[in-house]
Amino acid sequence: MEFNVKSGSPEKQRSACIVVGVYEPRRLSGVAEQLDAISEGYISNLLRRGDLEGKAGQMLLLHHVPNVLSERVLLVGCGKERELDERQYKQIIAKTIQTLNETGSMEAVCFLTELHVKGRDTYWKVRQAVETSQDTLYTFLQLKTKKGEPRRPLRKIVFNVPTRRELTVGEKAVEHGLAIAKGVKVTKDVANMPPNICNPAYLWEQAQQMAEEYDSVSVEVVNEANMKDLGMNSYLAVGRGSENESLMSIIHHKGGADDQAPLVLVGKGLTFDSGGISLKPGDGMDEMKYDMGGAASVLGVMHTVAALNLPINVIGVLAGCENMPDANAYRPGDILTTMSGQTVEVLNTDAEGRLVLCDALTYVERFDPETVVDVATLTGACIIALGKHATGLMSTHNPLAHELLNASEQASDRAWRLPLWDDYQEQLESPFADMANIGGRPAGSITAGCFLSRFTKKYNWAHLDIAGTAWNSGKNKGATGRPVPMLAQFLMNRAGLGAED
Ligand code: BES
Ligand code: MN
Ligand code: ZN
Repeated sequence: MEFNVKSGSPEKQRSACIVVGVYEPRRLSGVAEQLDAISEGYISNLLRRGDLEGKAGQMLLLHHVPNVLSERVLLVGCGKERELDERQYKQIIAKTIQTLNETGSMEAVCFLTELHVKGRDTYWKVRQAVETSQDTLYTFLQLKTKKGEPRRPLRKIVFNVPTRRELTVGEKAVEHGLAIAKGVKVTKDVANMPPNICNPAYLWEQAQQMAEEYDSVSVEVVNEANMKDLGMNSYLAVGRGSENESLMSIIHHKGGADDQAPLVLVGKGLTFDSGGISLKPGDGMDEMKYDMGGAASVLGVMHTVAALNLPINVIGVLAGCENMPDANAYRPGDILTTMSGQTVEVLNTDAEGRLVLCDALTYVERFDPETVVDVATLTGACIIALGKHATGLMSTHNPLAHELLNASEQASDRAWRLPLWDDYQEQLESPFADMANIGGRPAGSITAGCFLSRFTKKYNWAHLDIAGTAWNSGKNKGATGRPVPMLAQFLMNRAGLGAED
């Protein structure tokens, strides 16, 4: 898809379709009024007859409106003018894009970016419009033999900004929006890939391809033999029941000075989580192919970072592994010595993510990181706490927590903080080892975070539990690409990249 920004008046547009808003009840937006004037009341007539109320998401496609140069006019219901918020704005854009894609307009000029959205500026509106468009048009058809794509898909869209002065921020917004959308798409593609194709070696191939694509990127891999030498016994234990070798892929983006401490992202990359010997129930087990959503989002955000060539050093770690039951699999009762030297009593082999991550988090100490953020589909409890709407954020460093929450707000990619008070640490006590790998049912997401916090003392650290946000279940099953927008925003802020640059 091609995106452009323009600042023009609606009656001058010569396009396959021109998109304008109508508020509830039957009130024309400024731009719609201009079209109404040149068409001698054609649009207001339709509204009076009751063809469109203006409720958010309503669509009315008109052909050959008198005196209008564009072939079609798409009237889009925007709800009550004063109530248009960011959530509604994104829904309206999504519905518009869907409609355009299905009704034969291969190009369009869209004036919805001129609507007033509470608390948001032109940069945000254009960037979200780009991100939402790409999100809406996403399909995963590689493995279908009949693709069923539209005959005349939307190819090009121009977003209008109110004044010429805003063209520059509009263009920045398109550039940034496209870079983020690229990261989101990479994340979705890799996460949607089935587990018989997407295994730890597949993640490593994706990393290697990145190194070919960008000059700033180099990659390395830690295989099982290396892990053995390094004492990463906890990580190794999780993969022991699998025929697929555990591989930790490391992606370096060098955009800053040699001596600049890197920001490190660590993604849980369980390409399939059967639960191991503590086998999961069968219902919906297929969805555990998404248990590499953390690694997929790290890969995705590295694409965004490299595409924008951010002037900072960023390292992305994809902690690839598969959790399977087998004669050689690790078992409940086993006591593992982690790379940090601390011992862990395994009480449930399904609490495997933390066992992989703890060694990855110790491993990254060698990069002397300024900050480490891990991203993981870590606990079902996080879905109980926050549902699919917010990522669970935990951190032992308040400024970092605030920075991430701020980025999440800017990017409209929700996150909510959960506490990591010492009170919860007690739940991890074990009579035989330094800790157990589970802390019981109460506050399951927090005790998982507490477990990780024991391996992150050497740097500023935050943990994102994306169990609820990484994918959608049910009939619209699929990866969401979250939390790429939030992480991308966090890194853009670190790099000092804003609407003006
Ligand atoms: N990958 C799962 C967490 C998960 C569950 C993510 C459902 C998304 C949807 C994780 O490895 C796991 O199995 N966690 C257990 C932990 C428990 C054994 C303490 C869980 O949440 O049930
Ligand atoms: Mn598990
Ligand atoms: Zn898991």
